[in-house]
Amino acid sequence: MTQPIKGFSKLSKEDKITWIAENYTSDARKTSEILRQYWNDDKQLQQLHDEFIENTISNYYLPFGIAPNFLINNKLYAIPMAIEESSVVAAASKAAKFWLDRGGFKTKILGTQKIGQVHFFYTGDSKKLTAFFKKTKASFFDESKHLTKKMETRGGGISSIELRNMTQKLPNYYQLHCTFETQDAMGANFINSCLEQFATTLEEKATIEGLISEGDSLEVVMSILSNYVPNCLVRAEVSCPISELDLHKDVSPEKSAEKMVQAVAIANAEPHRAVTHNKGIMNGVDAVILATGNDFRAVEAGVHAFAAKTGSYNSLTEASIENGVFKFWIEIPLALGTVGGLTSLHPMVHLAHEILQNPSAKELMQIVAVAGLAQNFAALSSLVTTGIQEGHMKMHLLNILNQMKATNDEKLTLVSYFKDNTATHSAVVEALDKLRENL
Ligand code: MEV
Repeated sequence: MTQPIKGFSKLSKEDKITWIAENYTSDARKTSEILRQYWNDDKQLQQLHDEFIENTISNYYLPFGIAPNFLINNKLYAIPMAIEESSVVAAASKAAKFWLDRGGFKTKILGTQKIGQVHFFYTGDSKKLTAFFKKTKASFFDESKHLTKKMETRGGGISSIELRNMTQKLPNYYQLHCTFETQDAMGANFINSCLEQFATTLEEKATIEGLISEGDSLEVVMSILSNYVPNCLVRAEVSCPISELDLHKDVSPEKSAEKMVQAVAIANAEPHRAVTHNKGIMNGVDAVILATGNDFRAVEAGVHAFAAKTGSYNSLTEASIENGVFKFWIEIPLALGTVGGLTSLHPMVHLAHEILQNPSAKELMQIVAVAGLAQNFAALSSLVTTGIQEGHMKMHLLNILNQMKATNDEKLTLVSYFKDNTATHSAVVEALDKLRENL
């Protein structure tokens, strides 16, 4: 059995590779070869990547694709997406093209408020705590001036600090529930630094003001931003006369519209479907978040909490038919940044921002919401007409052919063959076998 290792992070990259290869893989030489194959020849660039995290031994590629023709508020975008799933970029491009001819996407920022909390326990009289907070509130702002000065010149800063009594949920539990504006930064570091300062101020003032006399105690447990940002919200929408919703030649536009509305209603009625429905939306959202160097885990966590805000898990999109018009929209919380973090560090992220014409955080929120809406529109359009597999398998075809080590000539022949034939895994295997037999 492999023994635990001490001081792994202090080993050289070479030694880390040797250790992992020898202890956890069957062919140490091959493991080392694969890892090295993905190193960048440019030593400076490789060092940059090495230093993003601890214990880097290689790089992990994802395809970086472009979905062009997105008309958003009358401006044309080509959207960069980093994702491995074969059909996502194709589906986004198809939806973009469809809506390009029907007025494009319209978007609106509904809020940009970020949230952070200082969680603490106080055993004394809550009225005393309330009076203490009222008296000392200004000092929370004053004592964090050194942190907020720069953000304030950019139009951001602390918007509010509120004392919340949470003792109904957990004995003696209180919060400083704080809201922030962080402009073009995602703001995690700014918010967390402010919160840690609030915690210090809280503890110091509590002692100075005698709040914790007479055997009472006040103890800060933690200070951290919240990734649940229901008021950092963006809306994206498309609409067209029903007669223009010609999704498929064999399905009338009226039927298509009706089934699209039903598909959303089903997601709203039933969490198994809602989760998959929203997963399709996140295909688009995450791909742009990754390409633009934002934190997809934060966005994922916040988005799904938002989808469950009523107590049951619902669709993030809505659809309606009114006065002969089909309307399809999304409201989604997105705390994003276009400065700081990876945006200036990672050359591909930097490029993604340039391709998007260096958007502000608000613009990026709108672009990402559109990518999610487009993805859901594409998925539902297929689901309520041909089914998902036809398009999906066409895109997946190259993966199957690559698995079977098809040559470029074989790929060309079979991609052309499956333009008019249904691609299933077994059909592809059979067609390739036949092709090889006939050589
Ligand atoms: C696949 O990645 C996403 C879909 O399952 C989304 C959906 O069902 O709406 C196609």
